[in-house]
Formats: sequence, C-alpha cells, structure tokens
Amino acid sequence: MLPGELEPITYVDGAVRILDQTRLPHDVVRRCLETLDDTAHAIRAMRVRGAPLIGVTAAYGMALAMRTDPSDANLGAAAETLLATRPTGVNLRRVIVGLRAMLASAAPADREIRAFEEADRLREEDISMNRAIGDHGLPILRRIANHKDGPVQVLTHCNAGILATAGYGTATAPMYRAFDEGLPLHVWVDETRPRNQGASLTAWELGQAGIPHTVIVDNAGGHLMQHGLVDVCIVGTDRTLVSGHVCNKIGTYLKALAAHDNGIPFYAAVPGLSIDWDATDPDAVPIEERDGREVAELAGVRLVPAGTPTANYGFDVTPARLVTGLITERGVCAASEAGLRGLYPEVAS
Ligand code: MRU
Repeated sequence: MLPGELEPITYVDGAVRILDQTRLPHDVVRRCLETLDDTAHAIRAMRVRGAPLIGVTAAYGMALAMRTDPSDANLGAAAETLLATRPTGVNLRRVIVGLRAMLASAAPADREIRAFEEADRLREEDISMNRAIGDHGLPILRRIANHKDGPVQVLTHCNAGILATAGYGTATAPMYRAFDEGLPLHVWVDETRPRNQGASLTAWELGQAGIPHTVIVDNAGGHLMQHGLVDVCIVGTDRTLVSGHVCNKIGTYLKALAAHDNGIPFYAAVPGLSIDWDATDPDAVPIEERDGREVAELAGVRLVPAGTPTANYGFDVTPARLVTGLITERGVCAASEAGLRGLYPEVAS
C-alpha cells in the first residue's frame, strides 16, 4: 500500500469511515461512525489519533451531530463533547472553534451540509499541507545524503505518519518524498511506550511503503546518536507554541536533549493548524494524563506489582532552543516567534 492509498478517514456516499488504529498492525478494520458519540468514543479510545487526524475526525463528528439535530443547543453540546476528548493537540480546538462559529451563522437547515463540506475541505487541506511539508523537508534529507555514504539515518518518535493525519503524514512526509526520489534511507522507529504507536503504527506504514526501518526501545536513541547512527531526528507535533516550543508525544524532549548533546539536527514537522498562536508559555500547555493501566500493562498483561501507583503523562514540551527548525507547509523556519511569523505574516499578533 502506497502513502497515497492508505486512507485513515473517508467520507463516501454519506458514510464516515475510519481505519481502527487499535487493531493495527494485525487487522485492517474499517468502522463506520454514525453519531457524535461514536466519533467522541473513537477519538478517546484512540481508534483515530494524531493531532491532525483528530481535528479532521472531530469535524465529521460535528457534521454527524448536525445530521441528528441541527439546533443551537446541540451545536454547543457537540462542540463541548468533542473538545473534552483529548486536550493536548491544538488542531482539535482550532477546528471545533472555527466550525462552531461558521455553523452558528448558518440556518439550522443548512448546518449538516455546511459541516460535511467543511470537514471534507479540512481533510483535503491536511493532505495537501502534508505533501508540502514533504517537499520542504526533502532538501534536508538530500543534503545529508550528499555528504555521506550509506543510507540517511532518520530517527522518529511515536507516529506522525499517514495514520496521524488525513493522509501522507507530517514527520514521515519528507521520508516518503526522499524514498520516492531514490535516496538511500533508513528510519529508526521509537517503540513509544505506553501505547506503542511507533512499534505498531509507524513500523506498519513504513513497511507498507517499503521504507527500510528498525524498531528500537524508547531508551535506545541516545546510544545510537552517540555512535554516529543517527543523522537527523524528525518528529511531529500536537501543538507548537508561537514561541517555537514543540509539544509532542512523551519522550520527544529526551530525544531532543540527546540530539543536542550529539550535534544532531532535530526538526519538528508542523502543519499550520498545529500552531498555537495564542500560547508562548510551555507550562500552560494542557498535558493529557491517561489511564495508568496503559503503563501497568503490556498487551493486557500486568507487569507492575498490584497496588503500585503509575503515572501516564501523554506529552512533553521540547524547548525551542533544542529544535533546529520547524518544517511547515510554507517552508522551514527557526523555532521562534520571528521564524513562524515570517512564514505566516497574515496571522495577527
Ligand atoms: O497520542 P497520540 O497517538 O495521538 O499522539 C501522537 C503524536 O504524538 C504524534 O507525534 C502527533 O500527533 C504528531 S501529529 C502528526
């Protein structure tokens, strides 16, 4: 299956269908979302996940809610239900706030169709942004390839691939472009405990595309970097602050520290909808805390002694000073307010 063929979400003949990511890599199962509650459950249970895909799925969830009941009261209730599903990624908030305002100004009879049109638009926009991220990230990999023998060694964390988006992926987009171009490439894939998105999802989709890769335990990255086995790190983001700090899956910060210590470039792939233009303070980012059983158990088997507390922080914030650059759909910029505003001059400060 090629990057363009793997569709994490579709809307065809009035039906919203998702690829259930909790069943990968073993089973490819598509599920129909029929209601707002189906949608909220799919997001909370991480049948769909990844900040851009959560945003797009939530837009379809709003449309499904309008299909059932397009009243003002249900519009507000649907927005609140979806906003409460996963707090860290800013895409969800930006999509829901925008859609709620757009639908509030439409007549109730028009809301369902307007919402589906907007969800389709957001889905297509996400895919084209990701392709553009691939175009802008490709020269980074090409430059490395031009200065070494053997494959370009990329390290990535979690899944910021096709499965985290409506298509093509963010962090993986430059890798797909490089591979298409015939650059020799190998990807180190962090397993990404506790949900193992690297081991189960990134490895699966890179395998589908035929890109050479190796899954490593989360603690291996520093060792590989010390031994010259990583040329560049590329990760995704759930929320990049206007100040350039990058919030992403827990463990990203440790990879950035190790990369910095070893002089290895560290990039985040950042679609415009993942930028939080209102936030500069990393301490103000809401960090999702999930069920401790995800830490205590592995594939349903408890590893931690009964009664031992666990903590399950889902995300961390990598300071801008550790980030070499942000790869956006408009180009690569410094991880700073000046860098971001240079690429998005239309956003009011
Ligand atoms: O908890 P998840 O699986 O939704 O987290 C996913 C990530 O952290 C990704 O790196 C992120 O969403 C990047 S967006 C392409």
